[in-house]
Amino acid sequence: MTEHRTLWAVSDLHVAAPGNRDLVDDLVRPEHPEDWLIVAGDVAERVSTVLKTLGRLTERFARVIWVPGNHELFCRSSDPHRGRDRYRELVDGCREIGVTTPEDSYPVFGGHTVVPMFTLYDHSWRDPALSVSEALTAAEGNGVMFTDQVAIAPFVDVPAWCRERLSYTVRRLSRVTGPTVLVNHWPLIREVTDKLVLPEIALWSGTRDTQDWPVRFRASTVVYGHLHIPLVREFDGVTHAEVSLGYPREHERSLPPRRDRRLWPFPVLTEVLP
Ligand SMILES: [Fe+2]
Repeated sequence: MTEHRTLWAVSDLHVAAPGNRDLVDDLVRPEHPEDWLIVAGDVAERVSTVLKTLGRLTERFARVIWVPGNHELFCRSSDPHRGRDRYRELVDGCREIGVTTPEDSYPVFGGHTVVPMFTLYDHSWRDPALSVSEALTAAEGNGVMFTDQVAIAPFVDVPAWCRERLSYTVRRLSRVTGPTVLVNHWPLIREVTDKLVLPEIALWSGTRDTQDWPVRFRASTVVYGHLHIPLVREFDGVTHAEVSLGYPREHERSLPPRRDRRLWPFPVLTEVLP
């Protein structure tokens, strides 16, 4: 009998939300001991919870690949590590438990280079007639204000950090050959934000600078989360898969049909084992 292994993907586990931790325990399990798992951000808000959750997953999967979401970066001024330090703290913690991060060499699965990325957002997905501050003020006027503004923005210049992350990532991506799987908490192309009920959310959801990356860097699949709109769609021959679990009121409706079709956890690639 041929054996195969699978690269699975999930995101937005939000394990601090009621019931989500149990769901993760029940459903995020390998089918083969050689299966890998991508966790595309928003595991939880506390570093200890994030690392504990990832640690449990490393006991099940042959490899766990994690990228940060905005929730992992939420800080209070009393936290010892804020902004860039918070990210460093998470990466150091992941290294101790053997979880692959955007700071590690890119692993290869089924002939595809799997690229964990951390690119943030720069408020460039906005009405072009508005400046960044006008767009943020207008969003607030419509009642849309991301927690990021009080839990990330006071501790680091997010658009500047985004620019740094973009140049770091593009430098590394340029050295990759062959097909890729691009993994990022925030989506890479603006088209996938078209279903947002509150379009202002796009301000905190990505950057126009990654728009051509899926094609330019030969992605077969882009794995992302953040929007809590779990759809799998194709643009320019690339599959864009939102693999979020989301909050209870969201996955109450979105999870059963995905479970029925075996789409959560999302199977990104399978490989026949020798
Ligand atoms: Fe998020």
